[in-house]
Amino acid sequence: MAKVILVDLVHPNCSQYSLCLDARISRLCTFVGTGAGEPVYVLLGQRAASAAESPSATEAPLLENLRRLNRHVHVLTGSSEAAAVYSFKRAVDQLDATVIDVVSSGPRQAGLRVYQERLFTARYNFQYSRGFESAPCPSGEPPLTCTQLAAIGEQIDTFLQHLPAVKGDITILKSSMISDCFSHGFTTRKGGISYINTLTSLNLFSSCRRRDSPAEVSENLRRLGLRAGFLPHQLHLPKVNHASDVWVMSKAAPDSYDGIVTNQTGVVIAAPGADCMPLLFTDPVRKVIGVAHAGWKGTLLGIAMATVKAMVLHFGSELTNVVAVIGPSVGPCCFTLDQDSARQFLAIHPACVRDVESPRPRVDIRLTTRVLLERGGVLPQHIHDDSVTNRPSVTLCTACHPDTFYSHVRDGLDFGTQIGFLQIRESSECSY
Ligand SMILES: *[C@@H]1O[C@H](CO)[C@@H](O)[C@H](O)[C@H]1NC(C)=O
Ligand SMILES: *[C@@H]1O[C@H](CO)[C@@H](O)[C@H](O)[C@H]1NC(C)=O
Repeated sequence: MAKVILVDLVHPNCSQYSLCLDARISRLCTFVGTGAGEPVYVLLGQRAASAAESPSATEAPLLENLRRLNRHVHVLTGSSEAAAVYSFKRAVDQLDATVIDVVSSGPRQAGLRVYQERLFTARYNFQYSRGFESAPCPSGEPPLTCTQLAAIGEQIDTFLQHLPAVKGDITILKSSMISDCFSHGFTTRKGGISYINTLTSLNLFSSCRRRDSPAEVSENLRRLGLRAGFLPHQLHLPKVNHASDVWVMSKAAPDSYDGIVTNQTGVVIAAPGADCMPLLFTDPVRKVIGVAHAGWKGTLLGIAMATVKAMVLHFGSELTNVVAVIGPSVGPCCFTLDQDSARQFLAIHPACVRDVESPRPRVDIRLTTRVLLERGGVLPQHIHDDSVTNRPSVTLCTACHPDTFYSHVRDGLDFGTQIGFLQIRESSECSY
């Protein structure tokens, strides 16, 4: 497991900066040791824009002492401290490293932990050591105040807000089957700031197993909201569990749920997917909406009809008014299951499984969803999926379109997530 060392030499407002720096660099050389080992990243923090890349005249000669380490030493600076830490994250990701040994002073640790929480995930293993304890600052180093810690968070957000999009503008797919009294869309990979190959660029989900951090994902969501007309706090995503629980938004939320239904305006409900299907449901007569996240397990457990039933039960929707849209998801061309699991799809309808005799039959989770919805009473002509050819398609295969969609089966551990989102427009008449 690749490891790097992060040395924090940031020491703002120190009246004896060069003394401190000198003592800390000497200390570092004994602490870290010399010779072939992990690369060392030295954080110097904020620089004026004109000097963004270079250590100052005070620092340069002292940093020369780092040559004694005889290692790869990289100096991290930036137009803000957040910019410098972000360039560190990029370097860590480039090396595919996960273990980060942090050498800092005690008081600075709290600040570095804010960066860790916002810009990294549990995928990274930070180990803090107070390497500078024996090289204390002669002018003293007070602990960071709450205000200073909060300012770090704000500085991170501001920095990310100014980053250019990694790949083009945000592109949103829309279904022509959804009435214009709703606003909706399916996101694609374009227009965000996520830079890791499999996550570029509009990844909308951060998890402890992936490299995209909460701050980066929040920034992607903010950009999506700007484009689609909502504020991040209005957005609600399910706490997915690959089961069939549905949250009726006016009631208490279950511990986990893959579906959400509501008749409220002012909220945006969304379903994630990265092969799994984001499903959108609308009832333009009663103005009720639902979303669901459906992978193969949720499909078998009936999450699609469970969401529709919640619209009927709690908001009086008529089944014949419900429109269902199946978003970008893995097609039967690219999705296989073991024989036992495939047999459960076969039991629903023979057309849901291809190559039945093969050890890994191909499974069509979209067709299965259509079959189950039709059996539940949704009209066949109200379902927008890949069998609909007279409208622009929204049910594209995620695995087949690497430039446009994320795919878990294709991309592995660090896969990104796209979403389907839906909202009731305020005070607009529905045409349907
Ligand atoms: C450094 O000084 C400035 C101006 O007095 C102050 O705003 C800032 O919070 C100080 N930084 C630290 C880390 O003490
Ligand atoms: C939403 O549904 C509830 C429960 O059926 C109902 O009391 C309320 O009037 C509905 N609100 C709107 C805006 O339709």
